[in-house]
Amino acid sequence: MYLFKRRNDLRHHLEQAKLKGQTIGFVPTMGALHDGHLSLVAAAKEKCDIVVCSIFVNPTQFNDPKDFEKYPITIEQDIVKLTDAGTDVLFLPSVAEMYPEGLASGKHYDFGNLEKVLEGEFRAGHFQGVGRVVHKLLDIVMPHQLFMGQKDFQQCLIIKELIHLLALPVQLVVCPTRREADGLAMSSRNVRLNAAHRQQATDIFKVLTAIRDQFGKVPNSTLSKEAMTQLKKDGFEPEYVEIITLRNGQVTREDAPSADKTVAVVLAAWLGGVRLIDNMILQGQL
Ligand code: PAF
Repeated sequence: MYLFKRRNDLRHHLEQAKLKGQTIGFVPTMGALHDGHLSLVAAAKEKCDIVVCSIFVNPTQFNDPKDFEKYPITIEQDIVKLTDAGTDVLFLPSVAEMYPEGLASGKHYDFGNLEKVLEGEFRAGHFQGVGRVVHKLLDIVMPHQLFMGQKDFQQCLIIKELIHLLALPVQLVVCPTRREADGLAMSSRNVRLNAAHRQQATDIFKVLTAIRDQFGKVPNSTLSKEAMTQLKKDGFEPEYVEIITLRNGQVTREDAPSADKTVAVVLAAWLGGVRLIDNMILQGQL
């Protein structure tokens, strides 16, 4: 696996591959890699000639500085995992390399209502930071396909919108959420759960599957309310459980969504000081 820390070196290396007609698949990450990330690498390997992965803990997307400080860093293990998974190129830039202009200034992306609801409501500025760094990474790597996980449902919608707004020549491939045996969605933040909370965390999957089983039989707003109550009873501090319908890339809440629309349940909840998010598609696809 080639490792580049400088954008120009990476660009130069990839230009050679593109001249040979090779296709590039790109998996952006913030490291602390788990099987969910590696499934994205596997999907990219299946579809593209060269797989590029980036590890960059992006400061501009953390609305909470404590979350940024506590974000797990496991570079050595990550490099071993990526090498074993057959990644061709790893991009490991510094903050100065990614943000030579500084962190404060930046382009504003008009994501509409999409960046104000759900995650956007609780993490002000988060999606501007995600948009900014993914735009920069795409500009450097210029991949044919971009691989992201469904676990970050709203992030996938934001990146779809980014690609659309800027008419970027890349195809977004959304891969299914990888789960532990008990249903907990794999996440870099899971390692911060203590043993008791780790066990408790599986309730999120139970709540999502209960909603999936009752979807269409009970009004969506009732399902959301019941799920919030259940999570509180189980010791979580839920921020939201919402059943959302996608209309032209934007999010709406509808009690009787039409059958041709994508509908999903999305949630965020705190447990033992760790913020967990998860979702399940109830109808259609992302
Ligand atoms: O999902 C992530 O790990 C990050 O939000 C991403 C897409 C790598 C941007 O920093």
